[in-house]
Amino acid sequence: MDDQPETPGKRPKGKDPAKQAAWLAGALRWHNYLYYSKAEPEITDAEYDGLMRELEAIETEHPDLRAPDSPTVEVGAGLRTDLAKVEHRVPMLSIENAMNEAEARAWFKRLAEDAGDVELICEPKYDGLSCELVYEDGQLKVASTRGDGKVGEDVTPNVKTIRSVPLKLKGKSPKRLEVRGEVYIEKKAFAELNERLEQEGAKTYVNPRNTASGSLRQIDYRKSAARPLSAVWYQVANPEDAKLKNQAETIKALQGWGFVTSTDLLEGSPLQVKTLSGADDVIALFAKYQQQRHGLPFEIDGMVVKVNDYAQQQELGVRSKSPRYLLAMKFPPEEKETVCEKIEVQVGRTGAITPVAIMKPVMVGGVTVTHASLHNADEIERLGIRPGDTVMVHRAGDVIPQVLRVVKSAGGNAFKFPTRCPRCDSELVKLGEEVVIRCPNHLGCPAQVMGAIVHFSSRTAMNIEGLAEKNVEQLLDAGLIHDPASLYDLPGKRDGMLQLERWGEKKIDNLIAEIEKSRTPTLAKFIYALGIRNVGETVAGLIANEVGSIEGLLSATDEQLNGIEGVGPIIAESVIAFLHDPHNRGLIERLQKHVQPKEVKKLAAGEGKFAGMTFVFTGALTKFSRDEAEVMVRDRGGKASGSVSKKTSYVVAGEKAGSKLKKANDLGVKVITEDDFLAML
Ligand code: IVH
Repeated sequence: MDDQPETPGKRPKGKDPAKQAAWLAGALRWHNYLYYSKAEPEITDAEYDGLMRELEAIETEHPDLRAPDSPTVEVGAGLRTDLAKVEHRVPMLSIENAMNEAEARAWFKRLAEDAGDVELICEPKYDGLSCELVYEDGQLKVASTRGDGKVGEDVTPNVKTIRSVPLKLKGKSPKRLEVRGEVYIEKKAFAELNERLEQEGAKTYVNPRNTASGSLRQIDYRKSAARPLSAVWYQVANPEDAKLKNQAETIKALQGWGFVTSTDLLEGSPLQVKTLSGADDVIALFAKYQQQRHGLPFEIDGMVVKVNDYAQQQELGVRSKSPRYLLAMKFPPEEKETVCEKIEVQVGRTGAITPVAIMKPVMVGGVTVTHASLHNADEIERLGIRPGDTVMVHRAGDVIPQVLRVVKSAGGNAFKFPTRCPRCDSELVKLGEEVVIRCPNHLGCPAQVMGAIVHFSSRTAMNIEGLAEKNVEQLLDAGLIHDPASLYDLPGKRDGMLQLERWGEKKIDNLIAEIEKSRTPTLAKFIYALGIRNVGETVAGLIANEVGSIEGLLSATDEQLNGIEGVGPIIAESVIAFLHDPHNRGLIERLQKHVQPKEVKKLAAGEGKFAGMTFVFTGALTKFSRDEAEVMVRDRGGKASGSVSKKTSYVVAGEKAGSKLKKANDLGVKVITEDDFLAML
């Protein structure tokens, strides 16, 4: 799957298996895409596995619901299109997971029924990126990622930069050899890399796996070379050509050819690779894995159990996408107890006051956790958390620290929400129905000024790399910047920047280049970068299409914004409030001197074929998408609206049009088909 799949919508309610299966398949495709193509997963492996199982269960009960391209059948999916593709001669499959002991025992029971007593061999489940190497006449020819299991991406030059990967095999080898394993980054190297990136003011990585993936799939192999990649090899895809009869032999042969194997990595640890028999021995070893995992220099997310003998493997065969002779025993998500020492409040970019639990440092999933957001006063009440309490924490999505519950109350005083801003001492306010408590001092509160600048330069906004919080703080403290527009004066302030601690010529050059590069954003990104409350990326795009330019934005009216489909009265009101604030207008006007967003094609009022006309699109459109249709209308000076009124000129009705069609008929508004609309163009 090359294209970005659709983001899954809200999960449908009810138990209709067809609807649930369709939603699950969509969600899994989306998460495959995030995992494989973007290397930025949003859910944990455990959550992903949960969704997969649900879909498998429905498909087992209703085989007619299993599509040939169901995620339960297709492995992975999602390739970056900009790397060349490589077909795997032997598909790269995935492994069935056991999330707890009961599931593992069920697997062993089935195995015993199918194959009797078998010899097993266990290896770490490396948390990296799987990779295939093809050697011809002993020379490394091609290295590829797994991709969708059938076709991966060519990463040969990048893999050649990993020093431990043999370019030429030692000793005798078959004419063609296909070796598989995992590319990863050691924990220490990951920490050092992030430290360096942070010092350079660049974006840091979330975890070693993402770093490995991002590094290996760089188009420019020199960038891979600058990353401390490691690799381990555990499989030969064509063992018959190498006359290998079992996994133990394979590991030895791989070592002989010069590869790093699990045996090498586990030398001296109690987890050594050896053959075992029976569930009890394997489960005992898994317990050792759980104890030892954090002491290993690399990340693992479980243990892989393999049937040692290849003839037995063949007999057991492969299910739709995973072999019956392999099992991945996954570690449960980690929860740890610690003490909440105090509750502090932080001030966000929009003035939102967020309580944060400051905790006694505790290692969770290999990372030291000290802070966790408590979100708002309601959440504090729900948890019943007070300073001094013993709490259970975990990392949501294996990343974000979260307090799960209070384990033991210390009977301390309940946390009192402050009434004044901890940063600027303004009196805090609560707006309407909002749960959030805010500091209203948007211009003077240092926390908000910093937040606004960090948001303005963030990747999805103006994309100025090098302006992470710490750097912005330094620039603010030194008086070199004071708002987003002042960033554009930085190129004239080199000397000032050179005075800052840890700022050298190179870092300054990089930042200035980034600032220059940001001068011609799309209008949507510019609007998003302003940080208007309730205006996210999508809404910013809708507004950009409507207003067409910065001038158009400055003169936008409430009515005009309300007329945009996807923009409700709350958003319109917050845009108007933002634009009416003289400080914000001043900021936009100053930004106009430095930044020229690309104009969205926009006709002057009264111009264009559809000038003065309003179209409503309803029902299932087959000839064009709703977005395309709306662009076609706007490009011709017309308006697209989401609701039918007497002022609507045309309702374009696709199949199964419902209430809007009825309303059009009631009001006597002209209804046309998609073809009629196309003919009008
Ligand atoms: S054996 C069917 N051994 O885990 C492929 N795989 O979740 C079996 N993995 O794609 C390969 N550590 O990339 C094997 N010691 C190990 C592994 C391992 C990690 C990966 C592998 C596979 C993924 C499945």
